[in-house]
Amino acid sequence: MERIHPDVDRIVLSEEDIKGIVSRMGADITRDYEGKNPLLIAVLRGAVVFMGDVMRAIDCELGIDFMAVSSYGDGAKSSGVVRIVKDLDTKIEGRDVLIIEDILDSGLTLSYLMKNLSSRKPASLEVAAFLVKDVEGQRPAVKPRYVGAHVPDEFIVGYGLDFAERYRNLPYIGILKPEVYGK
Ligand code: IMP
Ligand code: MG
Repeated sequence: MERIHPDVDRIVLSEEDIKGIVSRMGADITRDYEGKNPLLIAVLRGAVVFMGDVMRAIDCELGIDFMAVSSYGDGAKSSGVVRIVKDLDTKIEGRDVLIIEDILDSGLTLSYLMKNLSSRKPASLEVAAFLVKDVEGQRPAVKPRYVGAHVPDEFIVGYGLDFAERYRNLPYIGILKPEVYGK
């Protein structure tokens, strides 16, 4: 048993679960991008942990770059307002681009980002989302090509995901106790 942080209600994906998911995703991506030298773009900061793991699970030539957008602030609800805080250092025209995302909720952040990146004329543009949050009555604005796992409609932390910049370093995916974010 892993030691559980006192603010975490329960673990939904253990370190072992995560390893299995990431290696399966890496194998799928390797198969699809063999010989293409894709550019993996991670959205800061939540996706850095997944990026670090999945890039090592992909066995073909690739490049990486990072973008930062602001969407959540320190709260637990999506504002729908997206702003590019840090842009790419790489030209993506003609490049096969794969966006590496931590968690897809409403998809508002990604859908904005994909519109923006499409206008730069990449050869292809796909999304690998480690998690997809299943929210009743919600259809995410973006359909990821690769999905790690589905999680319930609760506040998820760990493996890069934060609440007010905390808990990113937890090695597992857990559900934050509602009293911690004041619900
Ligand atoms: P969306 O625009 O609603 O899809 O929100 C996506 C972004 O919000 C993710 O990249 C995360 O940074 C953040 N986010 C959404 N749900 C959670 C969560 O349960 N825990 C932590 N961050 C989340
Ligand atoms: Mg994020």
